[in-house]
Amino acid sequence: MRQIVIISKGDASVLKIREAPDLRPASDEVLIRVLASGINFADILARQGLYPDAPKMPCVVGYEVAGIVDGLGESTQEFNKGDAVVALTRFGGYSDRISVPANQVFRKPDSLTFEQAAALPVNYLTAYGLLVAMGSLKRDEAILIHNAGGGVGLAALDIAKHIGAVTYGTASGSKHAFLKQRGLDHAIDYRTTDWLSVLMDLTRGKGVELVIDPLGGRNWKQSYKALRSTGRLGVFGFSAAAGQGPWNKLRVLMELLKIPWFFPLSMMGSNKGVFGLNLGHMWQENAKIRTWTDAILDGVANGWVNPYVDRTFSFEQAGEAHEYIESRKNIGKVVLVP
Ligand SMILES: NC(=O)c1ccc[n+]([C@@H]2O[C@H](COP(=O)([O-])OP(=O)(O)OC[C@H]3O[C@@H](n4cnc5c(N)ncnc54)[C@H](OP(=O)(O)O)[C@@H]3O)[C@@H](O)[C@H]2O)c1
Repeated sequence: MRQIVIISKGDASVLKIREAPDLRPASDEVLIRVLASGINFADILARQGLYPDAPKMPCVVGYEVAGIVDGLGESTQEFNKGDAVVALTRFGGYSDRISVPANQVFRKPDSLTFEQAAALPVNYLTAYGLLVAMGSLKRDEAILIHNAGGGVGLAALDIAKHIGAVTYGTASGSKHAFLKQRGLDHAIDYRTTDWLSVLMDLTRGKGVELVIDPLGGRNWKQSYKALRSTGRLGVFGFSAAAGQGPWNKLRVLMELLKIPWFFPLSMMGSNKGVFGLNLGHMWQENAKIRTWTDAILDGVANGWVNPYVDRTFSFEQAGEAHEYIESRKNIGKVVLVP
């Protein structure tokens, strides 16, 4: 089988295609012939040596795939050879074959292509966890989605629109027209304006009930300020760390030093809450993940979950795919096809 290996930390040129021995599924596993692998921002941080959860290098990253069942462990009964499936993978997704515990595998909705299906698990489960399970977003509440044009951002927008919330989103200016077409009520360019004052003007000084923030560092402080009473801040990433070279280490350190402290008494006094979500630390919560997935698949069936694939790249072009995301060109999902 073929895999894309990160041979060492570095720029996109450290992604290399390698042959690996064929896999045999363990008893509770499903062997999948991969037709599409989702790329996530965590993969880029892993390649840059900035993702603490990443496997030791050389390693194969990739948290999700869509494909066809090609083999079954002896105790696996839910699937048959030839079934079209989508799966969460604990790394290893950048491969043309992968063996995955059956409880991380789901049937692919017929209405989605394999590329669209590979855009579902991480983006939509993260957004569902943030907005529904932990953020308790309600109809007519206001939400600020940072990085609204990214994979998680677009998923959060689908879910927020379904709930009936008023949506504010930050993104590079070039993505605003697309975001408005997808239903975003108010787009803010966080790269050229002071997004907090723009948001406060738009909300007549009130702020919003929910902010989801994957940027980290000093941005978390601003996001907390953007909350009105009963507001919740969900933190789930540290994109501010992305970058390479010796100066980046200094920049990351500065961002780490700017992380705000949240004190229970001051949260109580201002009626605000803060929570964190890391989907990669939810492997022991399979029942919850399956419940969230059922809700998302129901959204596919009923038309309010619409995974958007911006571009697909072949395995040979994996480096270009990473560079495309790093240069902030992507809108929504970027997918690798073997
Ligand atoms: N905790 C979890 O379970 C979890 C799960 C999934 C993702 N995440 C986090 O959520 C964030 C978004 O992930 P994603 O996979 O959906 O990726 P993504 O949004 O497609 O990421 C790419 C986009 O991020 C924005 N961005 C912000 N800061 C950036 C930087 N320093 N360098 C490059 N791009 C930057 C850019 O868009 P604009 O500039 O236009 O905004 C870029 O187009 C990441 O921080 C990721 O680690 C966390």
